[in-house]
Amino acid sequence: MKITSATFICSSTSYKSCPENNFKEYAFTGRSNVGKSSLINSLVNKKKLAKTSNKPGKTQLINHFLINNNWYLVDLPGYGYAKTSKTKRHEFKEMINSYLQKRENLICLFLLLDPRHKPQEIDTEFMKWLAQKAIPFVIVFTKSDKLSKSEIKKNIKNYKQELLTEWDSLPEIFLTSSKAKNGINDILDFIKNLNRKIN
Ligand code: GTP
Ligand code: MG
Repeated sequence: MKITSATFICSSTSYKSCPENNFKEYAFTGRSNVGKSSLINSLVNKKKLAKTSNKPGKTQLINHFLINNNWYLVDLPGYGYAKTSKTKRHEFKEMINSYLQKRENLICLFLLLDPRHKPQEIDTEFMKWLAQKAIPFVIVFTKSDKLSKSEIKKNIKNYKQELLTEWDSLPEIFLTSSKAKNGINDILDFIKNLNRKIN
């Protein structure tokens, strides 16, 4: 899919102040620093549309970007950053969870995971919660440039195996690198197909 325009619309503290829900929407979440904002920039081929940082905890609001005047990409805060105060972490969790449950035009959530780590409880618990609430999601492994091909293959295989001890089937899984620009078109094609399929 060709991206012809990508415009920042607004940052919201709650689903209640998000823009009107008149376009299909795709959101990105995962642990702080996993590469959500960088992936959004790679998808739209802009360096600084979404703000990134090498320090975790950069994105703190619900950020809407309008793509091709036709659908939204949404950059969400990360979860699980230990140095954020307990109160703030609770606030982010509330912000993300209520957004995910209430946003009617949300077509799919992209849950980003770092393939260097084994499944972490915070991520697997979150996946269970998504399933319970029937929130459609797919998994995106990020930063693939940080591992060799064989390490990635091994780690993703192990990750899937561990998930399959609790899940009957797994959601779609993508592998990306914002740095090496890998897997970007796979995600754009996935969105394009959903945009076509869902009216
Ligand atoms: P928060 O908003 O703080 O939750 O973080 P985030 O998930 O939005 O991460 P962000 O995109 O800000 O990236 C965090 C750090 O990881 C930055 O230093 C990025 O340059 C780096 N990074 C992101 N994607 C990649 C990637 O594909 N490869 C490599 N090597 N580094 C990446
Ligand atoms: Mg971010």
